[in-house]
Amino acid sequence: NIDEVLSGVDWEQGLVSPEIHFDEDVYRAESDKVFNKAWLVVGHEDMVPKINDYVTNYMGDVPVVVTRDGRGDVHVLVNRCSHRGNQVCLFDRGNAKGFTCSYHGWSFGLDGQLNGVPMEQALYHGKLDKSALGLETVPKVANFHGLLFASFDPDAPSLESWLGEDVSWWLKNFVLAAPLGGLEMLPGWHRYRSPGNWKLVSENFIGDDYHVFSATHISWLAVMQEFVSKGMDAPMATYPANAQSVYEGAIGGAENAPFGMGMVTVGSDDLFQRDLSEAKTLGTDAVEWIHHRKQRLDEISKDLEGAPYSFMNGGLFPNLGLMGFFSPMIGRQFLMFHPRGAIEHEVWQWNMVEREAPQVVKDLAIQRAHQGQHMAGIVAPDDVENFERMVEAGKPTRNWERPFHYGLQMGQEDEGPAGLHGTMGPNPSEFNQRRFYRFWLQMMERK
Ligand code: FES
Ligand code: FE
Repeated sequence: NIDEVLSGVDWEQGLVSPEIHFDEDVYRAESDKVFNKAWLVVGHEDMVPKINDYVTNYMGDVPVVVTRDGRGDVHVLVNRCSHRGNQVCLFDRGNAKGFTCSYHGWSFGLDGQLNGVPMEQALYHGKLDKSALGLETVPKVANFHGLLFASFDPDAPSLESWLGEDVSWWLKNFVLAAPLGGLEMLPGWHRYRSPGNWKLVSENFIGDDYHVFSATHISWLAVMQEFVSKGMDAPMATYPANAQSVYEGAIGGAENAPFGMGMVTVGSDDLFQRDLSEAKTLGTDAVEWIHHRKQRLDEISKDLEGAPYSFMNGGLFPNLGLMGFFSPMIGRQFLMFHPRGAIEHEVWQWNMVEREAPQVVKDLAIQRAHQGQHMAGIVAPDDVENFERMVEAGKPTRNWERPFHYGLQMGQEDEGPAGLHGTMGPNPSEFNQRRFYRFWLQMMERK
């Protein structure tokens, strides 16, 4: 019984029952309570820049298509034919006037309207109400400074209130780089299936910096340091070993969707200096851009008590992950953790870079994205190994008795600098994970 399972989520004590990561009934319940209710990211407007562009994605485990119709309006359509449920869009992305179902040939416009039915007059004798048989249109769609969100819940709160002011500030200014010219898509998507409940990987991005330096990614750090010690360009930006002022940002409040960032650097000059020296190797365009960028960041933060400069990782409830890797030279990586049953998820990952960055930076960003948080890179496979082993040890139901532990930095949550949006605490901590499960629980308990 779900209520009993939920009583095993004691986020205040930092104890979470593993059952919520393994049990199929919990999975079914959260499809309804979380994924059918939440605002979910479905892409970025730069994926559908032109009339008749489309790109596929998922909302939970529901395949959807994001389209830009002939009038320039963006729609999110459920990729499922109204006749007998076949998927109508067969390609990942493209440009087309509509979709024709491969089963009986019904054809739909990019606004979801049913436009054509083979042999309609001869077989339906004028009795088919085509207006009622369009593709299902996701009722709530919103564009937040380029990032596209959708919700299946017609009564969902506005995206504004779902995010709240603090999250909006960070997302807009810092992640989506709205004041810096916005973001541009880099070529290529990455996808992979991985063992592990979607929540385990979401909470990893929203708050688990502990694993980075304690065990999982130390081989990556060692490689980086080796490059640097030989005076060579590191394949990715180096870990800022000397960075001052690295914090964990817990941005969203109790009522809003949790948004957390790991290793946010505030009021520190050393990463800027590092970026500057790297920019010098890339040419004058890059140097000018880095200076311009720093000025804009300082302007954006002028009313705050410190200017944030960079971040490493982040996450927005329920299933968006972010990587910033400390450096604008790598751009931004967006990851969706799509649920695939209780013990598996599928990652859909794309990369973006600040639009105003010079081409040399964009080229470098592509290369680094592939070397780092990527299934063929040096970071992501280490995480997957852990998740594989966690799944093997977590499947036996007898192992659901003993709770997982999320007690890191309990009570120290707000000991970072004040005067920024949200709460800054020490890094690493498990504060963001505790907030993640608190919010998850709130959604699961809603009647
Ligand atoms: Fe699509 Fe029949 S299932 S036309
Ligand atoms: Fe990791």
